[in-house]
Amino acid sequence: MKKIGSIIRLICLFFLSMQTNLLNAQTKTIAQKVDSVLQLMTIEEKVGQLNQYNDDWTATGPVTKDNDKAKQVKEGTVGSLLNCMGAERTRNWQNVAMQSRLKIPLLFGQDVIHGYKTTFPIPLAEAASWDMDAIQLAARIAATEAAASGIHWTFAPMVDIARDPRWGRVMEGAGEDPYLGSMIATARVKGFQGNKLGDLDAVMACAKHFAAYGAAIGGRDYNSVDMSDRLLWEVYLPPFKAAVDAGAATFMNSFNDLNGVPATGNAYLQRTILKGKWNYSGFVVSDWGSIGEMINHGNVKNSYEAALSAITAGSDMDMESRSYKNNLAQLVKENKVPIAFVDDAVKRILQKKFELGLFDDPFRFSNVQRENKVLNDPEHLKIARQVAAKSIVLLKNQNHLLPISKNTKTIAFIGPLVKEVKQNMGFWSIELPDVDYSKFIVTQWQGVQNKISKNSHLLYAKGCDIEGNNKNGFAEAVETAKKADVVIISVGERRDMSGEAKSRSNIHLPGVQEELIKAIQATGKPVVVLINAGRPLIFNWTADHVPAIVYSWWLGTAAGDAIADVLFGDYNPSAKLPISFPREEGQIPVYYSHFNTGRPAHNDSDLNYVSAYTDLSNSPRYAFGYGLSYSNFKYSNLQLSKSKMRSDETIEVSLQISNIGNYAGEETVQLYLRDRVGSIVRPVKELKDFKKLFLNAGETKTIRFMIDQQKLSFYNQQLQWVAEPGDFDLMIGSSSDDIRLKESFELLN
Ligand code: NOJ
Repeated sequence: MKKIGSIIRLICLFFLSMQTNLLNAQTKTIAQKVDSVLQLMTIEEKVGQLNQYNDDWTATGPVTKDNDKAKQVKEGTVGSLLNCMGAERTRNWQNVAMQSRLKIPLLFGQDVIHGYKTTFPIPLAEAASWDMDAIQLAARIAATEAAASGIHWTFAPMVDIARDPRWGRVMEGAGEDPYLGSMIATARVKGFQGNKLGDLDAVMACAKHFAAYGAAIGGRDYNSVDMSDRLLWEVYLPPFKAAVDAGAATFMNSFNDLNGVPATGNAYLQRTILKGKWNYSGFVVSDWGSIGEMINHGNVKNSYEAALSAITAGSDMDMESRSYKNNLAQLVKENKVPIAFVDDAVKRILQKKFELGLFDDPFRFSNVQRENKVLNDPEHLKIARQVAAKSIVLLKNQNHLLPISKNTKTIAFIGPLVKEVKQNMGFWSIELPDVDYSKFIVTQWQGVQNKISKNSHLLYAKGCDIEGNNKNGFAEAVETAKKADVVIISVGERRDMSGEAKSRSNIHLPGVQEELIKAIQATGKPVVVLINAGRPLIFNWTADHVPAIVYSWWLGTAAGDAIADVLFGDYNPSAKLPISFPREEGQIPVYYSHFNTGRPAHNDSDLNYVSAYTDLSNSPRYAFGYGLSYSNFKYSNLQLSKSKMRSDETIEVSLQISNIGNYAGEETVQLYLRDRVGSIVRPVKELKDFKKLFLNAGETKTIRFMIDQQKLSFYNQQLQWVAEPGDFDLMIGSSSDDIRLKESFELLN
């Protein structure tokens, strides 16, 4: 009897302890759960979590062939895969990971830069919308689709400031300005990550490339960066800080060296700034192979030293270089690397795997039914079209040539990009194996065809190729143009001419395209030029002679419809350039927020020992913030609530905007400040706020901005963020070179 009693007691105790364990598991914080997993791990398994491989399927960098990837995953020595897409494929790999001793789930990362199945405009184009809601929504949809395909993590947003259009990756960022760049970084991070990580429509964002990658010398990709701390803090770091504040789950470091220290092995960037001053709790992934590339940089001798340098500097995960995998355990055993560094990196990664809910269900994102449903949501296409229309910049519109009437009798649509399909997707777009893009993408030809009335005739001639000298198609193009009432010419780059490793020393409109434009313009027909590109191009003759120019960048899946919406007036263009367009390559870098210098030129003919080119204007061809509408907006009645403020006060700025044109439309009102005297020289103008607002024809609205100490502050010599008392100029404009209203105020001591 006694025996039975004690057995029952034991069983009760067992269930009680089971219950408490369960309760503990439920009440344990993620940090505690991470600790318990960490305690179970061998050093090899820890290093495994820091190891990321490319799946053999596609590649976005130089591939190292590995025949035993699956074996390594089973051994628990791989923490993440990139370029592994699709519910089925990710499920299969996760199954392999579930055969490992600790069953730690894999993370699947992917460059979902501007859309997954539904391709949105390239990031630089979206930036031109200056529409934070639209940008956030595009990222939201990209995340929803990617997450339904088993992806946990996008390597986006790229928040690198870029002032050199020779650099091919300008297409991937938000342009030249730290304020606009920070706003867009925030919108994109929020869009990708949704309400919270762990939701089935959220993916982890990755702010990249930390840091200053966009300032590569000569605009040559992967090149060195040499920059003052002031410039780094004032211009290049703010979008990264904004990404931290918006909750970006991860960071990626960069290929470049910064002042001689490769970013990947740069402790100042990763430990002092990111994980120190900014108290960042996410993890840092290296760029593709960048840990191993420190050998090429000449900063370390071999991959053993590379691993030592990177982990010491705060790089948590090694993308594809295998330096951690091959050396880190040994480095720990030899006491070269404190285990605390490895543990910290592992904990940061496990934390995210827990937040994503992967320990509860490693397959939760990989569901084929959900994938099918989400990837075929027609709402996504509608939004892609709206975002695309918002990204198109109207550069010139003499005599209101645009919009074109849908009833125009004969329209000629000429040029090498008119009938292209995949070109519209731009660089860094994802091509899924089972999508028929010829049906999915709306070509420019189709878009215009869909738009015009049944009685209109649309004529076509290719004219020439994007590159090369062949003018054989010119005669046919000219004849076609002659038959039309209006001619649209679609020219530009190939989509793979801007992007990673796509730097160019010559950014003029390629090939004989500008000559084709000249030949057609000579017919005397009204000509609209449509320019498709991933970067600012140079097209001076066109800018001077052609009456209407539309810059459409690369607009994605809905390109054709969106272009037609703008050309035929169903959408009134509202985009503004997020980057200055140079007149010639020799002017680069050209950006609006430059210093005045000691010898500023007062105008283009002022050459009297001033800071100027003797053969070229200082001004850009098209300035930052520039972009036309079919309407006109009048700015009036600027008022400041006070003309002097103490540092704890604010000034309210109000003004009126009236739509004095015939079309309803949006205007982006830009607020610039100039600090007249600073202990560190201040730029002639800095964007500090903007508002995009919709106005019906004839409508007037009052808008307000708030000036506070933050907006007046900068990094002083000691890198302290301070506002110095003195006079400030306030400029309200429709573009950085079209200031409509001005005032000044004083910051008091
Ligand atoms: C290299 C690129 O620099 C980076 O942005 C990208 O995320 C990785 N390759 C992975 O494709």
